[in-house]
Amino acid sequence: MDQAAQLRQMMEKESKNLYRLNSRMTDNRGSYEKEPRVIAVSSGKGGVGKTNIAVNLAVAFRRMGKRVLILDADLGLANIDIIFGMNPKYNIENIISGEKNLSQVIVSGPEGVDLIPAGSGVQELTQLTEGQKINLLNEFDLLNMKYDVMLIDVGAGVSSNVIYFNLAAEERIIVATPEPTSVTDAYALIKILHFQHGVKNFYLLLNMVSDEKEAKSVYDNLSRVTARFMGSISIEYAGFVPMDNCVREAVSRRKPVMCAYPEASSSYCFRVLADYLLKRKNNGRIDGNIKFFWKRLMSGETDADVKIGNRPV
Ligand SMILES: Nc1ncnc2c1ncn2[C@@H]1O[C@H](COP(=O)(O)OP(=O)(O)O)[C@@H](O)[C@H]1O
Ligand SMILES: [Mg+2]
Repeated sequence: MDQAAQLRQMMEKESKNLYRLNSRMTDNRGSYEKEPRVIAVSSGKGGVGKTNIAVNLAVAFRRMGKRVLILDADLGLANIDIIFGMNPKYNIENIISGEKNLSQVIVSGPEGVDLIPAGSGVQELTQLTEGQKINLLNEFDLLNMKYDVMLIDVGAGVSSNVIYFNLAAEERIIVATPEPTSVTDAYALIKILHFQHGVKNFYLLLNMVSDEKEAKSVYDNLSRVTARFMGSISIEYAGFVPMDNCVREAVSRRKPVMCAYPEASSSYCFRVLADYLLKRKNNGRIDGNIKFFWKRLMSGETDADVKIGNRPV
């Protein structure tokens, strides 16, 4: 083979390698985009509708073809199972103690929304030995392949648990109603997450409003105040859910309103909200991965000062 032919062969080989490398990178990027989103739902004040929002949003995501897991992490008032009309036998505690594995604890709710009943077990996550943590993380790793979205019903207030879950999740929805106390408490939660923990991105969802105009006006007021006192913060209007008696009736039938009354105005808004969130490029993504969520949660690497269940922040 002459020199020119050798050179040509070398170049062809190089370009093939480069092509392979490129396509691998594209594949990786593709799978990165497909990594599950982890969205925390919390509020300053209790009783503003977080549980109903998590549950109905989950059903709406399912109807859009997404595989959804809910983590019931409201340590005070865990009650997703009530709205799902089920009585799960096990919760995360049974996984931590090693009695059960994840697949035995996860239950399947309406329309194939899966649920991890968390209960108070979550408080023990930071106290596990390294070996236990690795075992658990291996289990949670499987969830990345099984789900597109994990929603966390975090609970209300500014306790260390609420802060902790909000830090470990990569996206956070703060729920508020137009009541002044709810808005003030939402502000307090955002303020702590921002000033004490450097969180910059939030979605605000207004529940139990009379109409969109009221929702927008509450959002405008809150975002004006946060822009004034917290400069670089981004609070994005995610949408609203109207005050709707069907929600209450569905709860008393132990069903999500999306299932009991699909034509209700609130059900319509949940569909709009789910659509908005899916189209929205991930707001403030740290690492869109369920395993990393658990890792952050267990190691406390989100913030060394916040220890789950120890003290109010
Ligand atoms: N959009 C709504 N319209 C009417 N009632 C609602 C709405 N959202 C929630 N509720 C009612 O408010 C109460 C508290 O809701 P819940 O989801 O349990 O709140 P949280 O989880 O924030 O404590 C429930 O009785 C529920 O039926
Ligand atoms: Mg709740």
